[in-house]
Amino acid sequence: MTAQEIIDKYINFFEKRGHKRIENSPLVPENDPTTLFTSSGMQPLVPYLLGETHPMGKRLVNLQNSFRAQDIDEVGDNRHTTFFRMLGNWSLGDYFKKEEIPWLWELLTSKTGFGLDKNKLYITIFGGDDKFAILENGKYQPLTPDVESKSIWTTILEKNNLDPSKRIFSYGPKQNWWSRAGTPEEMPIGEIGGPDTEIFYEFTDIIHDKKYGEKCHPNCQCGRFLEIGNSVFIQYKKVGEKTFELLPNKNVDYGGGLERLMSAVENQNDIFQTSFFSSTIKIIEEETGKNYKEHAQKMRIIADHLGGSVFISNANIKPSNKEHGYILRRLLRRSFDNFYALEGKDISPIIHKIVESYKETYSYLEKNFEKIKLTILEEEDNYKKTLQKAKTYIHKKYQEERGEIMGVKKISADDAFILYTTHGLSPTQIKSLGYIFNDQQFAERMKSHQNISRAGATKKFAGGLADHTEKTIMGHTATHLLHKALRDMFGEKLHQAGSNITPERVRFDFSFDRNLTPDELKKIEETVNQKIKENLPVHFEMLPLEKAREIGAIGLFNEKYSDKVKVYSIGNYSKEICGGPHVEKTSKIQKFSIMKQENIGKGIRRIYAKIGA
Ligand code: SER
Repeated sequence: MTAQEIIDKYINFFEKRGHKRIENSPLVPENDPTTLFTSSGMQPLVPYLLGETHPMGKRLVNLQNSFRAQDIDEVGDNRHTTFFRMLGNWSLGDYFKKEEIPWLWELLTSKTGFGLDKNKLYITIFGGDDKFAILENGKYQPLTPDVESKSIWTTILEKNNLDPSKRIFSYGPKQNWWSRAGTPEEMPIGEIGGPDTEIFYEFTDIIHDKKYGEKCHPNCQCGRFLEIGNSVFIQYKKVGEKTFELLPNKNVDYGGGLERLMSAVENQNDIFQTSFFSSTIKIIEEETGKNYKEHAQKMRIIADHLGGSVFISNANIKPSNKEHGYILRRLLRRSFDNFYALEGKDISPIIHKIVESYKETYSYLEKNFEKIKLTILEEEDNYKKTLQKAKTYIHKKYQEERGEIMGVKKISADDAFILYTTHGLSPTQIKSLGYIFNDQQFAERMKSHQNISRAGATKKFAGGLADHTEKTIMGHTATHLLHKALRDMFGEKLHQAGSNITPERVRFDFSFDRNLTPDELKKIEETVNQKIKENLPVHFEMLPLEKAREIGAIGLFNEKYSDKVKVYSIGNYSKEICGGPHVEKTSKIQKFSIMKQENIGKGIRRIYAKIGA
């Protein structure tokens, strides 16, 4: 089965059961300050899981490009990737466990489905967490084990002559609870989540390695078991340090990696050897003149990291030292390191092969091939220069300042740390320049540095969308008003080129060839505030794409799977194609104040504004 066939089978299965396919959301989310990348299909659906009505209904299905930077160090084994494509289905307060679980079993095992060998499937369920309680009808209930899922699975397995006591495993919140932030403990107030049930595939040809524990089990890390799907029963919102309350709806959020499902379908215990990845591995073998069997780890890193980089570059991100650009830089430099370590010279054919491998299932890459390639090759060039600069820095410091001869390549941990922080080189990269330093001292410096960054990251999550949904939504509606005001003043050639909204401020980019004068800025601000005062109602309709165009809705008309699009109107003032969510009435925004404008180059201006009283 090709990747396309797997996708079609999955989507058709759920479409037949009343689901509507929703489009793939951008890999770099526009208005979600809590995260750099879309890392699961549920992420763009958070407002709907919280209770808002989704225009396409209560049953949704899709294929979502996803990237998980946190898995970067896991890549190299038989199953981890940073970039993957997630097959997902959702019930927004419609069906629940007793439909979801049997459907999955049917899809995975039936002849018309994926036809997986039942004897190789294992199930995990949530075993409860007595540190947490659910507030229900004014009373606290303990967060108990998921007996309902267990009973549904037991019936299914028994019907199939499989022994449930040997196939259903119960785990705590670390394994069988899902939220964007992790376990109940790790979730910020306001975040949603719930218990999950996961399906594992057993590769009987992998012998359990006792270094991972005496006995093998689905969540053992030896590689014998592969998680191929996860149904999260999103029904709770964290409201206190140890408490949750019920969401308006009981939702289902299923996600499963396409690449992993393919591994199971092909009974191939190495994701990178499935028919999807094998052509990329083959070209890496050719370009390095080395054998995959002997260099699997390095080649997996090259294949995964370059693949992720291709998708991130496709989203118009450029390597840099900040946020998305930093992740891209890290991925690229790690793939270069591994490629050079295998004596590879020209990385272009690999980029080409990766783009080609997505030709059938994601053709946008092919259209942007030249741009993607340029981004990657420029970074390769930059990286080479950085390495050279790092050498010069050390050389100067040791030879000129201390009179040491650079034949001795031992450097202090402090200097190694400077190469890490200011030149952006990892310890391995520093060593590859021929330098030795005290690893332990370096690790200590690193630890205190990481504690500082982690504190920053936690703060970012806590200050993000989950906590301030309303403010972010107000900002979103304000961008529509701003967009319309700008177009009315400067003509319809002006269009939005991006936006980013946090509870603290609205950032809006648009195409325009000069700075706005203070007078113009003032007028724009006044117009937006006038529309806020008029208290215009905001509503949406689902319209055929053509109709949306006809009525003059502003919007980008690409990457839409459905023929119908959601058009948001603000009174009779603005009409824009947009996924939402928005405030119901403009008066909710209260006030709009422009803070500054910037010229960010290439004919794009940026406005920063504050909203709220
Ligand atoms: N949100 C869950 C996950 O990412 C299931 O879609 O695993």
